[in-house]
Amino acid sequence: MLIIDRISSSYDQVRVLSDISMNIKEGEVLGLLGRNGAGKSTLLKSIMGLIKIDEGTIRLDDVVLSKKLAHEIPECGIGYIPQGRRLFPQLTVEENLKMGLYTRNSNNDVLDWALSLFPVLKTRLKQKSGTLSGGEQQMLATARALCLKPRYILMDEPSEGLMPKLIETIFDIVEKLKSENVSVLLVEQKIEGTLRISDRIVFIENGTLKEETTPEQLNDNPEPLEKYVGVKSQKDAGSQSFK
Ligand SMILES: Nc1ncnc2c1ncn2[C@@H]1O[C@H](COP(=O)(O)OP(=O)(O)OP(=O)(O)O)[C@@H](O)[C@H]1O
Ligand SMILES: [Mg+2]
Repeated sequence: MLIIDRISSSYDQVRVLSDISMNIKEGEVLGLLGRNGAGKSTLLKSIMGLIKIDEGTIRLDDVVLSKKLAHEIPECGIGYIPQGRRLFPQLTVEENLKMGLYTRNSNNDVLDWALSLFPVLKTRLKQKSGTLSGGEQQMLATARALCLKPRYILMDEPSEGLMPKLIETIFDIVEKLKSENVSVLLVEQKIEGTLRISDRIVFIENGTLKEETTPEQLNDNPEPLEKYVGVKSQKDAGSQSFK
């Protein structure tokens, strides 16, 4: 289990996250929802050690991640796909994937596994990643993160900038990860899809965790959706995002 225990984080002494506690269980998809600027990306960066936390601890089972350096955290089994994907656009698909492999001394079996989940990439290994479509780039970013053989993946708005048809692909990707027993912490603005594939949902507002619930509970009582992301019901959330 990935355990976030009472963490607080700041930028230049301005507090952005306050006293956040949550867990991500083995094999689950946890949806993290909140408005722009709520602190979602900051929470992911804090887990990855990219921002020093002021207080609290982050653990993966018995391993204290918050004592480690940023480059050691992927080696512990945590994959991260940042907002905006951050591929190397001048490198080919294959070169991008190999960057992933080197980071954790993974072998070609891992690469084959990652590619087997996204067969379209196999046909594009020599293409420069900057010329891939948005959906293909997201598949590549995910496949690259998988080259670390992570047990947990943190995904920051993977559907951002994609056309509606491709957004479904993103949710399919998350479901595939879950079926491979990879746990996912999913930050998304696309509510309906997030509720469909998540086991649990947490809401964050102004850097504070407000509510932990399930898609089923939100179906019965959609009030937190309105309160924290401005969507009236799951039905309203249909094609809507709250940006
Ligand atoms: N590098 C930084 N330096 C100073 N302040 C920052 C920095 N990065 C983020 N912030 C501030 O921290 C707060 C939380 O930002 P964060 O990026 O975590 O929000 P978010 O929930 O991911 O929003 P979005 O939905 O727009 O991606 C915001 O007020 C933001 O302006
Ligand atoms: Mg963000």
